[in-house]
Amino acid sequence: MTEPRRKILVTSALPYANGPIHLGHLVEYIQTDIWVRFQKMQGNQCWYVCADDTHGTPIMLRAEKEGITPEALIARVWAEHKADFDGFLVGFDNYYSTNSAETRHYADDIYTKLRTAGLIEVRAIEQYYDPVKEMFLPDRFIKGTCPKCKAPDQYGDACEVCGTTYQPTELIEPYSAVSGATPVRRESDHHFFTLGRCADFLKEWIRPPQVQPEAANKLSEWLDAGLSDWDISRDAPYFGFEIPGSPGKYYYVWLDAPIGYMGSFRNLCDREGLEFDAFWDKGQAASAGTELYHFIGKDILYFHALFWPAELESAGYRTPTAVFAHGFLTVNGQKMSKSRGTFITASSFREHLNPEWLRYYFAAKLGAGIEDIDLNLEDFVARVNADLIGKYVNIASRAAGFLTKRFEGKLANVLSSDGDSHIDPVLTQLVHRRHDIERAFEAREYGRALREVMAGADEVNAYVDSKKPWEMAKQEGREAELQQVCSVLINCFRLLTLYLKPVLPKLAGDVEAFLAIDPLTWEDATRLLPEGHTIRPYQHLMTRVDPKSIEALVAANTQNMAPTTDSHSQARHPERQQHESQANIEPIGETIDYDTFAKVDLRIARIAKAEYVEGADKLLRLTLDLGGESRNVFAGIRSAYEPSQLEGRLTVMVANLAPRKMKFGLSEGMVLAAGPGGKDLFILSPDSGAEPGMRVK
Ligand code: 2FM
Ligand code: ZN
Repeated sequence: MTEPRRKILVTSALPYANGPIHLGHLVEYIQTDIWVRFQKMQGNQCWYVCADDTHGTPIMLRAEKEGITPEALIARVWAEHKADFDGFLVGFDNYYSTNSAETRHYADDIYTKLRTAGLIEVRAIEQYYDPVKEMFLPDRFIKGTCPKCKAPDQYGDACEVCGTTYQPTELIEPYSAVSGATPVRRESDHHFFTLGRCADFLKEWIRPPQVQPEAANKLSEWLDAGLSDWDISRDAPYFGFEIPGSPGKYYYVWLDAPIGYMGSFRNLCDREGLEFDAFWDKGQAASAGTELYHFIGKDILYFHALFWPAELESAGYRTPTAVFAHGFLTVNGQKMSKSRGTFITASSFREHLNPEWLRYYFAAKLGAGIEDIDLNLEDFVARVNADLIGKYVNIASRAAGFLTKRFEGKLANVLSSDGDSHIDPVLTQLVHRRHDIERAFEAREYGRALREVMAGADEVNAYVDSKKPWEMAKQEGREAELQQVCSVLINCFRLLTLYLKPVLPKLAGDVEAFLAIDPLTWEDATRLLPEGHTIRPYQHLMTRVDPKSIEALVAANTQNMAPTTDSHSQARHPERQQHESQANIEPIGETIDYDTFAKVDLRIARIAKAEYVEGADKLLRLTLDLGGESRNVFAGIRSAYEPSQLEGRLTVMVANLAPRKMKFGLSEGMVLAAGPGGKDLFILSPDSGAEPGMRVK
């Protein structure tokens, strides 16, 4: 093996382990993956690592609400995330977890080095505390009335009605979103990283090429405004790593999140026998010439371009070669929205559409800057169909049929059809596009790269139209010419595939099988398929996007919900971002005493019969068997269930609810269901063994 030209470590931001991957996330993973695949095709050594970001209050509370341990929650979400990444062909070399021994090791190491360098200060601060839940409350978990517009039930950091931002202490009648209790002010010791002392270093660091020019401006504004000390500890109860020597104090999740990059890479090194220090130790990285790149969203620039390099530098580690920020995703020109059906999860996209279509579309829209990118669903259909099917895949289907039927799949030589010994010009030009395409991929200007590829495809299509192989096929004595033109086309198709491979790896794999060739690398761009090479019979490579599947996708992602929980917040502070990932979770209401609870008679019931109710579009009529006794109940679950899905099932009902006369008849009780409504309604089912009539206690 020859020595790899470059040695590169690449990361994408670590997604929180409490919500699904959605299309907004995918912009980044697809952007990064394309770059990594391009580097690998270039013959560079390039490692791509990531992990779930598993710590913090939202994850702790979410697990509690689900009645499971945080470890069980993060294990489940890890598997869901991994399946989505695999589905979208995001080829991590390691997908790990921040809740790992490796991450803890480097977190302790960095913390201890910062402390030794005199960069950690401990001092008491006062915060809101929930006396019922016995925990300090992050801003997002305090609600109350907006001090400005007096809208009730606003979060502790900003009002969603009038847009004002404020301190939680300014809320009128604050209450804990966790328990409903009135929070009290309480003091405790916190650990601070004195970032201000790193200002001189950072002033030098936050410049291109370490950061993009637009980012550099923003960063120097922040720097000029003065860097406050960063609060890196949280008090128990907290799901995270306890700080050594400080019982009851934990690293704030944003302290160990980027250290998760090291943890994941360390885990890969141990598995693959790689040298961790060659990538992370300051001296060794410099002499080995290794490179480190972080792909992130522009909203977490502060963490990656100020806190993170300052931590690394102060602890004696190497700093990133560059931090690449991208913009947000809008859909049809607007923020993603659950009520419009444009807050689309990765798993739902996979169910309805081909992930490579999205990879192509995002790539076509992506540049090196931090502007937002828009997924216009109509344009998506038009673009994918016109480019991938109309311009690219059709080249193969047009040429391969003749080769297989007339020439047993054998290629002719591809010298110019004038008979001289030059390679056909259409092919030469396509080979020449290689440098521009290569430069564009390297610079993360994927839109430019794909425009170049499609311009090449246009030329190839113009060549087909001028040669008219279908006419040659009908005329006697033009066999050799036909074989030659089709062979040129297959060679062109191979080249186009090579250029598209970082974006469309699965399709490229299928093409490699069809052409009976080894996996394409960038070097192969200067080679041609030799005379006599035999391709396999053409098999369909990619279908057109059917606009109906877009409609189905949007419908599947549409949720009916209260307007206040509709907007998609892309804020990345976990103590503030709670909102989107938990939009379906209502805050817990007022407490009741035990006697009140004991009055509710919950029983296991068997759904003996379920039927539609004429004139009622929300209701199903259920006949419930309570172990001898039969009840008639109208339940508002028609949007989520077909009657046939329910019959025979066991569920839980309130058996002593006073009967209610409804327009359609008497309702004698109530079945229990969870969820925000619409399709997302879930009736409860007992474990097997429960029997109709049993009391639920
Ligand atoms: O904003 C977020 O979604 C964070 N989980 C990103 C962490 S990136 C890195 F620092 F780990
Ligand atoms: Zn307000």
